[in-house]
Amino acid sequence: MQQLIDNFDRKFEYLRLSITDECNFKCNYCLPDGYQRTQKKQFLSEFEIENLLRAFAELGTKKVRITGGEPSLRKDFSSIISIISNTKGIQKVATTTNGFNLFKQAQQWFDAGLDAINVSVDSLDPKTFHLITGKNIFQKVMQGVSASVEVGFKQVKINSVLMKGFNDTDLNLYLDWIKEQPIQLRFIELMQTDDNADFFNKHHLSGNLIKENLLKNGWTQKVGLSHDGPAQVFTHIDYQGEIGLIMPYSKDFCKSCNRLRVSSTGRLHLCLFGEEGVDLRDLLACENDKEALKSRILAALSNKKVSHYLQQGEVGGTPHLASIGG
Ligand code: 5AD
Ligand code: SF4
Repeated sequence: MQQLIDNFDRKFEYLRLSITDECNFKCNYCLPDGYQRTQKKQFLSEFEIENLLRAFAELGTKKVRITGGEPSLRKDFSSIISIISNTKGIQKVATTTNGFNLFKQAQQWFDAGLDAINVSVDSLDPKTFHLITGKNIFQKVMQGVSASVEVGFKQVKINSVLMKGFNDTDLNLYLDWIKEQPIQLRFIELMQTDDNADFFNKHHLSGNLIKENLLKNGWTQKVGLSHDGPAQVFTHIDYQGEIGLIMPYSKDFCKSCNRLRVSSTGRLHLCLFGEEGVDLRDLLACENDKEALKSRILAALSNKKVSHYLQQGEVGGTPHLASIGG
């Protein structure tokens, strides 16, 4: 079988597929003024998604994460889940959501074949949550998190973007929460994009501070779990939950890169940063184009660079992560 392996010997079995770049939140680091609809974009149709997934699965893709924008704003979200989970070769379907529709729809997504959920909860203080996201719905999102555990999701992860001056005092609240909850809490270091330079300079906080704090307090780092991708994961004997740290500015972050991305309009992105992507869309409308599609994906991968150049301040081309799906 053909495999997605790049020139630096990294293997890509994980695809992040954005299905819309619309979002109903106004996260201060991402879309502080809300989503701006410019011209009406045509996002990938279910049929295009099906063709895309067949090609990727034949190239060894095993896990797919559906992202956005907010993926559940699409009316056909459940149907997309089921198309992906029924694609031969795909073993795991996950999504990342802002939690807005979670309480109402967790059961439906589970029934459609979704295996895992990441929910963004950037603060455990309702007021701060409102301040960060522009939505005063902290309780509703938390009810959604509980509902997803209850309907049977084995893997529920929480994403929290670290921000000085917003949630840097929340660590103990988070730790109390995961003491009795089998949840993986992931702290993500704020990343600079084209649109958020000032915000980034004011609020970026290194994940190393959390790492030192954890190691001092009896947490130990798990080793060698390639499926966690670039996250460093920590566990503690007294805690049911675990902590993941995502530190894109740390040395070697890109070494364990295991993911490719496709945008909601069908562009293949080899990295979150610094490249404009390769258009796949002309090959998605017809199932007979599968071999050509596979060749194009393989050819593109041979251009994947060893690393992003974020440390050098190179963020070129990514206005905010809603545009290409975190
Ligand atoms: N830096 C770090 N994380 C971000 N996300 C969105 N934008 C940024 C950024 N600039 C996160 C969201 C969500 C995930 C998809 O990406 O909070 O958890
Ligand atoms: Fe929406 Fe996610 Fe961006 Fe927040 S971070 S505005 S939830 S796309």
